[in-house]
Amino acid sequence: MNDITAKPTTLVIFGATGDLSRRKLLPALLRLEVLGLLPECFNIIGFSTRAFDSNNGDEGFKDYALSALREHYTYDFDESAAKKLLSKTRFIRSTFEDSDGYTEILKRLDDIDQECGVACDRVFYLATPPTFFPVIIDMLSHSQLADRRGRGDGVLPRIIIEKPFGQSSESSAKLNDLVLNHFDEEEVYRIDHYLGKETVQNILFFRFGNSIYEPLWNQKYIDHIQITVAESDGIGTRGKYYEEAGALRDMVQNHIMQLLALVAMEPPTTMTSENIRSKKVDLIESIRPVEIDNIDNFIVRGRYDKGIINGETTVAYRDEANVSSDSTTETFVALKVFIDNWRWSDVPFYIRTGKRLKARKTEIAVTFKAPPHCLFGSEEKACPKDNVLVLKIQPDEGIDFDFNIKYPGTTQRVDNVTMDFSYKEAYDVTLPEAYERLLLDCITGDSTLFPHKRAIETSWKLIDEVLKGWQSSSAEDVADYLPGSAGPKEADLLIERDGRKWRDI
Ligand SMILES: NC(=O)c1ccc[n+]([C@@H]2O[C@H](COP(=O)([O-])OP(=O)(O)OC[C@H]3O[C@@H](n4cnc5c(N)ncnc54)[C@H](OP(=O)(O)O)[C@@H]3O)[C@@H](O)[C@H]2O)c1
Repeated sequence: MNDITAKPTTLVIFGATGDLSRRKLLPALLRLEVLGLLPECFNIIGFSTRAFDSNNGDEGFKDYALSALREHYTYDFDESAAKKLLSKTRFIRSTFEDSDGYTEILKRLDDIDQECGVACDRVFYLATPPTFFPVIIDMLSHSQLADRRGRGDGVLPRIIIEKPFGQSSESSAKLNDLVLNHFDEEEVYRIDHYLGKETVQNILFFRFGNSIYEPLWNQKYIDHIQITVAESDGIGTRGKYYEEAGALRDMVQNHIMQLLALVAMEPPTTMTSENIRSKKVDLIESIRPVEIDNIDNFIVRGRYDKGIINGETTVAYRDEANVSSDSTTETFVALKVFIDNWRWSDVPFYIRTGKRLKARKTEIAVTFKAPPHCLFGSEEKACPKDNVLVLKIQPDEGIDFDFNIKYPGTTQRVDNVTMDFSYKEAYDVTLPEAYERLLLDCITGDSTLFPHKRAIETSWKLIDEVLKGWQSSSAEDVADYLPGSAGPKEADLLIERDGRKWRDI
């Protein structure tokens, strides 16, 4: 985990009674408490409209938080750590639009500073629906909560903003302008929870901690790279959100773009947040924008149909709650992407993500070029298969490498075998939940794992182009696929036209 020691900090959670707080943030905070990673003087202020029974809401919120912890904490429950965490928790009942609520936050923050005897760092977590981001940012500024003056050197406010960060390049730029009017870039933490996953952070350790792969990590030796983010679930109860998002906005603009940046970026000079984020921005800026007139050769959209999974009937996307019966929203997308730079010239990156697919699986597979000559005979069995390095992100975290050997016996037969590393088998530890790492980094002021303003705006620009291309198309351009499959057959054609195949999901 993060090696920096946290300073006294107060975390204000806007939307503290919401689903994200309940399922992820509060359990992550308890884990940090159990591991002794929270600063000695650490306090939480929850904020929302929820009315609890007791007078000021503090006790009611503690009960609420305790029930959330009991329900969602995934490790052995530690009663005394939970008690300790809750003893540092307060609650303010107000609306995001009401300035009195912010006056109350300021008062409570000052009281906490008094109790701790120091000016504590103040971290504001916007765990709210995105429509509230602008009003909260404005209110924070007008109520002097974002002020640095008179609070001592190095005591900076920080703001954590949940996803989605905008819906287009225009709206993300507008949100960036607004937040950067009141906070400096290094005080803004835009959450992409994928970057908090241990296996995602391992991409840089693997690439730059081994001298054997880096010399091969380029267009001379790599044939292509596949990035798969497959989900077996449907959209659940999120119909309203998903209708406006779709797979491209929901997964590609943020998580997949970040995975692509990590696997393809140049080595940073040092592992500082500034250096790493800047190399990622360079990479995203080198992605070739889609040719709108030729969009179908590069991108395929799909939508799950009704079907049967494990003996149970599942509904078609268009029959889900809060989804329009003539929806054109995609629940699957496959893309072929090129990066126009020295390292990756002409290497295709095939990307796919979708819901209700065969399995839940996220991986990056790097396929190396075949040997220049097949030495062991002309028959199929004598030809080497692809060398593939697979960075497995979830659910079986690890790394596989497929290579060729001689099959035992008297014939000239090549066999493709796998060397595999599994985090679970190698270490007797539970990999931390993404939010544990991300919250700790915000508390300690390390923004390495949070996308920079330019990365967000550039990736939105790329997505905007695709959406523009899709605007002129009809619902028929979204291909239906069966639940439990690997997506529509059109996605197979996208890669097979190039003489390659998708890996099995
Ligand atoms: N849920 C997840 O698993 C998840 C995962 C990744 C990202 N996110 C992101 O996290 C953010 C929060 O999502 P969520 O699912 O937690 O949302 P949610 O369940 O709808 O929670 C919204 C929170 O905001 C409060 N709230 C709503 N309107 C308010 C107002 N006018 N004034 C004061 N408080 C108000 C609610 O308080 P009441 O309880 O009083 O109504 C509740 O605490 C979103 O940006 C979402 O995209 C969520």
